[in-house]
Amino acid sequence: MSGAIVRTAQTGDRSAIHALVERAFGQALEADLVDRLAADGDVVLELVAEKDGGLAGHVLFSRLIIEGDGVSCAAVALAPLGVDPDSQRTGIGAALVEEAHRRLEAAGEKLSVVLGDPAYYSRFGYRRGPAEGFSSDYQCDALQALAWGVAPTAGRLVYAHAFAVL
Ligand SMILES: CC(C)(COP(=O)(O)OP(=O)(O)OC[C@H]1O[C@@H](n2cnc3c(N)ncnc32)[C@H](O)[C@@H]1OP(=O)(O)O)[C@@H](O)C(=O)NCCC(=O)NCCS
Repeated sequence: MSGAIVRTAQTGDRSAIHALVERAFGQALEADLVDRLAADGDVVLELVAEKDGGLAGHVLFSRLIIEGDGVSCAAVALAPLGVDPDSQRTGIGAALVEEAHRRLEAAGEKLSVVLGDPAYYSRFGYRRGPAEGFSSDYQCDALQALAWGVAPTAGRLVYAHAFAVL
């Protein structure tokens, strides 16, 4: 990767993260989502990539609950992932996701779900098959899951509140 350092996001990063995510997506929607997830305390893991003294990338995993028949299971949702347009295709997105996965698995998380392009997320192990059985407003071919060990493959996906106001 081109000289970027991946680290945990800090409270003092909030305005820089907002600006970066807005630049990455070319709109404020995802940056506002990040702000809301942080304000609501729904962040499980948030990493930034620092390069040349500024932020070049960001990824956030929020708490996702899978409601089964009388049983609820905790999982995480990957969203959003953004890299500064000037730094894209240099491996920063991959470095953020791979480091986050290492930390999440080590912390005992069992399942991550993403809504995104399979051509990109399949390289990190996300697959459509394990996500097909979930009931969700976001159910579609782009919904994919990555399990660490034994994880649910059915149930209703309940995203953090911030997603409801998108
Ligand atoms: C998608 C994104 C996070 C990838 O980050 P990145 O640092 O540029 O990606 P990496 O350098 O790790 O990987 C580059 C590879 O991903 C591929 N890629 C990048 N964006 C892609 C996309 N949207 N769909 C499929 N493949 C994509 C590139 O073609 C490249 O492939 P290669 O390795 O075969 O050449 C970044 O392009 C971005 O921020 N895009 C705008 C915001 C966005 O769409 N986020 C994803 C929301 S689900």
